[in-house]
Amino acid sequence: MCGIVGYIGKQKAAPILIEGLRRLEYRGYDSAGIAVLGGKRGSLFKSVGKVANLEEKIGDRDIPGTVGIAHTRWATHGKPSDNNSHPHQDCTGDISLVHNGIIENYLELKKDLEKQGHKFKSETDSEVLAHLIEELNKKMGYEESVFEALKKIRGTYGLAIINRKEPEKIIAARSGSPLVLGIGTGEFIIASDVSAIIRHTQQVIYLEDGEVAIIKADDFEVRTIKNKAKNKVITNVDWSLEKAEKQGYAHFMLKEIFEQPEAVEDAIRGRIIAEDGMARLGGLQAVADKLRKVEKIIIVSCGTSYYAGLVGEYMLEEYAGVPVEVEYASEFRYRKPIIDRKTAVIAISQSGETADTLAAIREAKNKGALILGIVNTVGSTIARETDAGVYNHAGPEIGVASTKAFTSQLSILALLTLMLGRQRGMSLVTGQRIAKELKRIPKLITRVLEQDKEIKKIAKKYAQYRDFLYLGRKYNFPIATEGALKIKEISYVHAEGYATGEMKHGPIALIDKDFPSVFIAPRDSVYEKTISGMQEIKARGGKIIAIATEGDAEIKKIADDVIYIPKTLEMLTPLLSVVPLQLLAYFVGVAKGLDVDKPRNLAKSVTVE
Ligand code: G6P
Repeated sequence: MCGIVGYIGKQKAAPILIEGLRRLEYRGYDSAGIAVLGGKRGSLFKSVGKVANLEEKIGDRDIPGTVGIAHTRWATHGKPSDNNSHPHQDCTGDISLVHNGIIENYLELKKDLEKQGHKFKSETDSEVLAHLIEELNKKMGYEESVFEALKKIRGTYGLAIINRKEPEKIIAARSGSPLVLGIGTGEFIIASDVSAIIRHTQQVIYLEDGEVAIIKADDFEVRTIKNKAKNKVITNVDWSLEKAEKQGYAHFMLKEIFEQPEAVEDAIRGRIIAEDGMARLGGLQAVADKLRKVEKIIIVSCGTSYYAGLVGEYMLEEYAGVPVEVEYASEFRYRKPIIDRKTAVIAISQSGETADTLAAIREAKNKGALILGIVNTVGSTIARETDAGVYNHAGPEIGVASTKAFTSQLSILALLTLMLGRQRGMSLVTGQRIAKELKRIPKLITRVLEQDKEIKKIAKKYAQYRDFLYLGRKYNFPIATEGALKIKEISYVHAEGYATGEMKHGPIALIDKDFPSVFIAPRDSVYEKTISGMQEIKARGGKIIAIATEGDAEIKKIADDVIYIPKTLEMLTPLLSVVPLQLLAYFVGVAKGLDVDKPRNLAKSVTVE
């Protein structure tokens, strides 16, 4: 993953680059660095840790120059350290580059270059490229040597390169790691995603795999790696800067949890025809005929998006009667999935850049499946590589732990269920009931959010426990796993998400007074069985936090603490039950003094396999 930003124009590059890095920090924050062409020798600063550490290192220095590149890192090769931070340079220090991705054949290249006398300063794969360009540049022009070097490397990259000898340009290249070029007036900014660009311009070009951009202050051109000119379409990005900022919340994660009523509203807006009990998903219009004939759906995704897929499986099988499998994208291509032309593969991805998910849809495409996407980031690679899809419209999600994208994904899966269900025999009355209830969900989420103070108290009470068991049945089994993932991610607490019925086949052995359980226990078709599970835990001295339906006073007799959610249709309860679990994880993380927006070792968008 990692975040890349580059600037060329009339303004001082350094402050713009640092500001861009701060916006990209969610992509990785092991270390950061900046290189600017200006003054006699140019400037290079690198620091292990977050962007703030880099800023501290730069201090009051005024970095001259209007051309520069910068990077925030999520380590793949080489531990986080000042030396392993980007930008990396060749032996002379003329060439500096930042890289997102993995160069798979770096060891063999490195050996050759060392034989030719190159001295390496870091353990990274990326540094190899700087030396390779230097070496090739001895025999050919600089631009040509970049194209040649790219042909020699195997792996993935998003790259930005500058050269002291040709200071009027940035060369950027993409293969497998995202890059967007922002087009300003007399200035350009290249970055891993638009959040680092929108402050400067809303006009962007998405680079495709195998493309190289040569960017000068007053002009740019895009070529293929084979050095053929390419025409690119300029897109207008409609995200506002305000949307990408915290707006008074202590953390992006909290802001995004509170944005969920709006995110669900935005996901369903204009897509429900209530009186017909139908959903209209414009993005799927082009493949409507194929979709009608689909006999099997495979959902591929990772992390939180995977758990959304699991809820989708329950919805689609119960109401649309389509067999559904949900696969970890990272496992999908190592199996021999049975796919044919009547299979639809749906990729669910907030970022639209997750490498495993991308690899999975490419594999499915080769096998002839119809490829669909539920993606939040407009113009992202997955969005572009699917045959058709639905955008979430949830706005930028910055907190590393996904929250609003999840409820947005669930809303779209409910719409898809409605659409496919009504094509396959769902009654008008059932369709109308789902449509009507889905429209109420934003208000119902608001009611859950109003209990934030109560949930904070509960979180404080449980913040010191080291282990948790999260349990749920049917629609809420995936929510148990998502709840456990949330608390793991941001509070570094060990948590297991389990199907309530499976608890007695193993996890119950862990239960004692120091191992609390979080039960998702709404009044649904499996309520009584859930209560039996709670009794089994209670009998072994385990503490219980229950997520229950408003008005369920009985549950207080068994659970130590209860958080209430409003009554809704069973298939839509996950949209409500996940909210207290997000808040619980958030408040436990805060109580422990952790940086919940940037949990250790994680990254928002994992663009390596
Ligand atoms: C990373 C993030 C998770 C996210 C997962 C899938 O692991 O930390 O929050 O759920 O990637 O990301 P995607 O962008 O494909 O939904």
